[in-house]
Amino acid sequence: MKLLFSLILVMTIALNCCKSFNMGTNKIDYSKIENQVGQQQCFTSSGQLPTGYSSSYVMISFNGNHPTPSGIQQSSFLESGFMNIDLVGQQLYVDFLFDNGNTKTKGNLWGFGSNSTQYVSVNVNGTDYCFQQPLSYSVPAIEGLNYITDFELGTVQCDMFAGSPSSLANSTNLVLLVDKSDCSLISASTENINNTPSGYSLTNYYYYNPSADSAYFQLPSICLNPPNSKQLKLKSSVQLPKVLGNLPF
Ligand SMILES: *[C@@H]1O[C@H](CO)[C@@H](O)[C@H](O)[C@H]1NC(C)=O
Ligand SMILES: *[C@@H]1O[C@H](CO)[C@@H](O)[C@H](O)[C@H]1NC(C)=O
Ligand SMILES: *[C@@H]1O[C@H](CO)[C@@H](O)[C@H](O)[C@H]1NC(C)=O
Repeated sequence: MKLLFSLILVMTIALNCCKSFNMGTNKIDYSKIENQVGQQQCFTSSGQLPTGYSSSYVMISFNGNHPTPSGIQQSSFLESGFMNIDLVGQQLYVDFLFDNGNTKTKGNLWGFGSNSTQYVSVNVNGTDYCFQQPLSYSVPAIEGLNYITDFELGTVQCDMFAGSPSSLANSTNLVLLVDKSDCSLISASTENINNTPSGYSLTNYYYYNPSADSAYFQLPSICLNPPNSKQLKLKSSVQLPKVLGNLPF
């Protein structure tokens, strides 16, 4: 994050420096650069925020802060998967693969705000299980998502926003990059505030689609059957997808 802001500083200095030295013969049209710099294009009104979306993702965390049923905890892992989120109907679906270096977990989560219930399906030793639980996620919301600057990811022109995920109670800063041309999610990074050890995470979004597909909200038959006693033993240790803990929206 510090590197990111240093880069912005360097970019800003470079642009300001070059604008003040008029070389006369240069071929760069600085008026175009000037027009692109510092102009927020996305989310200038709440009506521009998506009503839902789907996206594949890869999230890497190094001691990053994450909400858990027993409070905010730091952890390191890689998680990848697909998410489908209906912000208006308050339904979500995540298909995830979690790897903390020792344990790999593959699972699915269906969450319903209407009855505050979630269903988590995991595959252990080749057998599928599904558990019903109270919903552990609220509708994702970032406190004060503020436009910071223009930015480029590769050569993609982005709007950069900063905020703090509400589920992380001001413990964590989040920086979000969205594509200026269509306001789609591209990348989000977090940095823990005042934690020892320090912690970070980076999430990239792939194949972003600005609407949710309702087909994913249908529960599979395995989740409609009451669990047996062997399943219940497993329930307490079931891994939930971390990506839901710091979604921007
Ligand atoms: C909660 O709502 C979902 C979606 O309507 C439904 O599939 C599920 O059976 C409901 N669960 C309970 C416990 O009411
Ligand atoms: C899965 O397999 C491992 C190793 O054989 C065993 O220790 C564990 O209890 C099994 N888990 C379940 C839920 O059957
Ligand atoms: C986060 O900080 C804001 C502004 O200082 C405050 O209004 C809000 O209550 C804090 N939230 C939490 C969960 O502590």
